[in-house]
Amino acid sequence: MPAAVDKNYVRIFDTTLRDGEQSPGATMTSAEKLEVARALARLGVDVIEAGFPAASPDDFEAVRRIAQEVGNLREEGREPPIICGLARATRGDIEAAWNAVKSAARPRIHTFIATSEIHMKHKLRMDPEEVVERVIEMVSYARSLCDDVEFSPEDAGRSDPEFLYVVLGEAIKAGATTLNIPDTVGYTTPDEFGALIAGIIENTPGVEDVIVSVHCHDDLGLATANTLAGIMAGARQAEVTINGIGERAGNTSLEEIVMALKTRYPVFGLTTGIDTTQIMRVSRMVSNYTGIPVQPNKAIVGANAFAHEAGIHQDGMLKHHETYEIMRPEMVGVTRTRLVLGKHSGRHALRARLAELGYDLSDEDLVRVFDRFKRLADKKKTITDADLEALMADEIYQPREVFSLDGLQVACGTMGMPTATVRLRGPNGETHIQAAVGTGPVHAAYTAIDQIIGIPVELLEFAVNAVTEGIDALGEVTVRVRYANGRADDVVNPQSEAAVSRTFGGHGADTDIIVASAKAYLAALNKMLVAYGYHGGEPEEPAEIASGERQATTG
Ligand code: KIV
Ligand code: ZN
Repeated sequence: MPAAVDKNYVRIFDTTLRDGEQSPGATMTSAEKLEVARALARLGVDVIEAGFPAASPDDFEAVRRIAQEVGNLREEGREPPIICGLARATRGDIEAAWNAVKSAARPRIHTFIATSEIHMKHKLRMDPEEVVERVIEMVSYARSLCDDVEFSPEDAGRSDPEFLYVVLGEAIKAGATTLNIPDTVGYTTPDEFGALIAGIIENTPGVEDVIVSVHCHDDLGLATANTLAGIMAGARQAEVTINGIGERAGNTSLEEIVMALKTRYPVFGLTTGIDTTQIMRVSRMVSNYTGIPVQPNKAIVGANAFAHEAGIHQDGMLKHHETYEIMRPEMVGVTRTRLVLGKHSGRHALRARLAELGYDLSDEDLVRVFDRFKRLADKKKTITDADLEALMADEIYQPREVFSLDGLQVACGTMGMPTATVRLRGPNGETHIQAAVGTGPVHAAYTAIDQIIGIPVELLEFAVNAVTEGIDALGEVTVRVRYANGRADDVVNPQSEAAVSRTFGGHGADTDIIVASAKAYLAALNKMLVAYGYHGGEPEEPAEIASGERQATTG
């Protein structure tokens, strides 16, 4: 039955590229965003919220490219996903959102305004009556441009339900086709949130003709529970992000909602269009691109989610996997299959396996990945799918390189001072060599890199992860950096405070974790340099926030 008429179908609205990208350090390049959008389409999400086009020219352009390229993709006979752009309830924002999404086969404008007393009084400085008028005016305007309009009363979780019924009723009359109910600050409990949705469905005039959606934040660790409570109460769209990334403590995680609905189907009786075997892959991609590691005990996608450590558990598992396993790891794409490619394998076999994993490479990219693959196969006997995905993230989807690693040598141990010598290739092809000491080899390498690039940087996070088991495992490093506080004037272009506090993530993979660490650090620095308009002395078009700070939206 088509989703549009199936009352038991829950639409998955993914906001990784909008609310998720707003989380500290989650900044992705346009190429990365496009790749994530493609992976989301393959995953089978119904709606991709591709960004907030009015935020900056770069955001606009990223949404526009996603609308054009992913919004017209027909995967395996499926309709292309709806591509949605966020807009505050202003003409300028709505117009920008429409211009960014209109080339998609199925465009959507998502507009919002706050309805809680605290937001209306202190943030908007508007009376409730003015808010209602604005909703009518802006939803009508959005609907005059686009047939698919979503409206959200921001901070609905702390809004007066009676007021919400009025606002939402007017939004429907003005043409909204989806009403999204956000618990913006993650304040409600599951009972309260379920009751809020039930009340809206019962009391909002015209609600039977629209889809009710839920959008929860995880400040109290209740986002998944609240979303499920909203679905139980009748919501048929869930707004989620991969790995639960998002503003502050994050958003509801896609994988938790989808797997809860699937695993407990007898309880919910509801389905989604998600191909769950793609989950792990998208999770890793988002973690690699954002530089935000997934905590090992994270439900569904954490490294330990399917690990059984205790003797009693292992014994039970050997006797019958259902003793301690409620989902098969294969269901979410955790495969223990090893790629039977070794150093004698050819390019065709590699291309075929990558295609099975969903990567469609140009001949030029294949040459690069094949070269890395061969070098890895020299060091490591078996190469898993996870190794290949780490290579892809490392080799293909890296930010534009301003500085690249050309050589690294370290001396460390108990007998002397940890020292690193780093050779970088600069933006004009020039070579820089620098040696430095540090408290350890990574610190020494980062110090040498800092001395070459000469911009004050604060390292906020550093995480190492072994991609697979074994002593020959590929090591993956993710880092998060930002300009060192209070040094905005050192930056190539003067920055606003908001721009300077922005953080950048980087990812690197190598069998040598010091090399992986240096690559991750350089990837983050390259993102930062490009975003802040550093082009190695070659003036190019102004960067996104060099000319004006990125607009703030909301959680
Ligand atoms: O959390 C929130 O209120 C939002 C809205 C824009 C839906 O992200
Ligand atoms: Zn939000």
